[in-house]
Amino acid sequence: MQNKKRILTGDRPTGQLHLGHYVGTLKNRVRLQDEYDCFFIIADLQVFTDHLKNYDSIESNVFEVMCDYLGVGLKPENTFFVQSQVPELAELAMYFSFLVTLARLQRNPTVKDEAKTYGATSIIYGFLGYPISQAADILAFKADLIPVGQDQLPHIEQTREIVRSFNQVFGKEIFVLPEPLVGEVPILVGTDGTNKMSKSLDNYVAFAHSSEKTERRILNMVTDCKRAYRKDPGHPNECFVFKYWSIFAPTDTPIVRQECETAVRGCKECKAQLARKLNEHLAEIRERRRHYVSQPDLVWDILSTGTKQARMVAGETLTEVREAMKISFPKLGASKGGR
Ligand code: TRP
Repeated sequence: MQNKKRILTGDRPTGQLHLGHYVGTLKNRVRLQDEYDCFFIIADLQVFTDHLKNYDSIESNVFEVMCDYLGVGLKPENTFFVQSQVPELAELAMYFSFLVTLARLQRNPTVKDEAKTYGATSIIYGFLGYPISQAADILAFKADLIPVGQDQLPHIEQTREIVRSFNQVFGKEIFVLPEPLVGEVPILVGTDGTNKMSKSLDNYVAFAHSSEKTERRILNMVTDCKRAYRKDPGHPNECFVFKYWSIFAPTDTPIVRQECETAVRGCKECKAQLARKLNEHLAEIRERRRHYVSQPDLVWDILSTGTKQARMVAGETLTEVREAMKISFPKLGASKGGR
């Protein structure tokens, strides 16, 4: 256990997770969970950075995300925790804030991108600074590997810069440089065929959706627009539904391609078949998810155990950090259980 390398990653509790999360990062987490000592953070404080209006559903969304995690096959033995319940993370973020310039924060491409949707004049300090808080999430646990979606890469880069800068300024090698790991489909386009799959655009397929809803969303997908009639040959390379085949049922791709190019299969049946495949894939996940949804006490218990464990580990790191920064104040007895 001790000599395993550590993973830390997580999500904002803004609603249910979907296939975009699955191919971008969840699959990696499931695959690596036995090989690594895994910490999964549900980053509720990040909700305030851009969803100030939605904070009343944080608790139920934390529950949904937990059910998604356990549903996709992350084992309950991993350490799952809620960000706000580990105050050491806020403390560490405060310390790190002294190591990052405003100009550096403003250069972060993901932050820039997100800022566009809020309007530049309404940007709050906590939003601009959230990559610092994310660095604290990662470094409090001295994580080695961070499986994330592609949009998170700038934050990992920022985290690495903070490691270098902390070590240099305070002359202590407390932190290790974390490495990002992005899934094989870094950006999954949603069922609208144009935008990245996301809750806000309602172009997604969630684990929590029913198979009927999934089928409806797939049947509504736009196919090859060059194929005007059923008898016309299709162009799989230009068809978004075919792209989904190649992602979610790669072994079927050759036959789908051939039948499409020879007009043996029509678009409607192609989509119906794809929906069936997807639903088959999701059946096990959905069943496991339902199992946890029906046992909320068990789910909260897993989170409670994990949160205690996370506090302990983060607490150890913070002791080292305060020492390095010369703010331990032993005379004040803080280290004697005052915290
Ligand atoms: N920013 C991530 C998201 O939007 C959530 C997150 C918070 C995170 N802290 C993290 C991810 C630390 C990886 C590591 O989903």
